[in-house]
Amino acid sequence: MSSATRRPVILDCDPGTDDAHALWLALASPEIDLRLVTVSGGNVGLDRTLANALAVTGLAGACVPVARGAERPLLGRFRSETAVHGDDGLAGVVLPRGGEAIGGLAADAIRDLLRGADPGEFTVVGIAPPTNLALALATEPALAARIGEIVLMAGAWGEGNWTPAAEFNAASDPEALAVLLGLGVPVTLVTLELTAQALVTPARIEALRRAGGGACLAASRRIMEATPPSRRMGGRGHALHDPCAVAWLVAPELFGARKAAVSVECGQGPGRGRTHVDRWGKTKGEATVTLPETLDADGFFALLAERLARLP
Ligand code: BDR
Ligand code: CA
Repeated sequence: MSSATRRPVILDCDPGTDDAHALWLALASPEIDLRLVTVSGGNVGLDRTLANALAVTGLAGACVPVARGAERPLLGRFRSETAVHGDDGLAGVVLPRGGEAIGGLAADAIRDLLRGADPGEFTVVGIAPPTNLALALATEPALAARIGEIVLMAGAWGEGNWTPAAEFNAASDPEALAVLLGLGVPVTLVTLELTAQALVTPARIEALRRAGGGACLAASRRIMEATPPSRRMGGRGHALHDPCAVAWLVAPELFGARKAAVSVECGQGPGRGRTHVDRWGKTKGEATVTLPETLDADGFFALLAERLARLP
C-alpha cells in the first residue's frame, strides 16, 4: 500500500488487555501509519500502562514513539479496572520489557505532530480515558483542523459497564470527552453496544491459535484466555472493545452505522459520564457523531487473526 493511502494515526491508549490487541491490529495493518502512541492512566496506573504500551509495541518490533501522558483525569483521579485487566493491566500475561518512552508528555507530542500536519491529515484514535487528547486540543484548539476524524471507544446508548449510567472511558473523564465532542471535528463513537458484538469465545480463541505462531499472536491469545468472562455478556465470553475502534479504520465494511447527536453528562451525580445518544432524532441536537451499530463479528475476528499473524 502506498504511503499516500495509509492514514497517519495518533493512538491514545491505557493498556489494558483489549488495548494490547488494538495496538497490534494497528501496527499490523498497512491502512494505518501509526505515528505516535500516547498513554494515560486508566485501566491501571500510568506507570503500568506505559510499561505495557512499550512492551506491546516492542513485541511487535515497532519503532513507533510512545509518550507518557496523564496520571489523572481533568477532575478527580482514575479508578483502575483491575477486575477485568488484572493488577498488571495484561491479565497476568508477562511480556518482555519494551523500550523507552520519548521525552516530554503526551499532549506536547500530539501538538508537535499536528503543528507540522496538513488540514485534516491525521486520524486520532482514543481507546482510553480521553484526557491526553483533550489536554492537547484544549490548549491549542486551532490544531483540531489538522484532524480529519476522531474515533473513540467510549460511551453507550444504554447501560454502562463502570456505573449503571456510564462506560469506563467516558466515566473516567467526562469533561475530556465533552472537549472532544465540542471541537467541530467529525467524531466516531464506538460504544459498548457495538463492542458487545465482538465477543471473545473459546472457539474464536482457538481460531487464533490456528492462525499462526508469532509471539504477538500467541500473546494476544494468552491475554484473551486470561481475561475473565463478563457477567454483562452472560458469562459467554468478554467483549473486545478497543480493537473495534481500529477495525473501523481498517475494514469499515464490517460495520453498519448511523449519525446521531451525542452529549456527555458532566454532573457529579449518578449519571456522571453517561453519554446521551440521540439515535432517533428526538432532540434538537445536530446528528454529527457517527455511531457504528452493527458489526460482522466473524469478519472482525478473521481480520484480527489475519493481521496479527503478520507480526513477529
Ligand atoms: C473500555 O474501558 C477499558 O477498560 C477498556 O480498555 C476499554 O477501553 C471499555 O469500557
Ligand atoms: Ca482501553
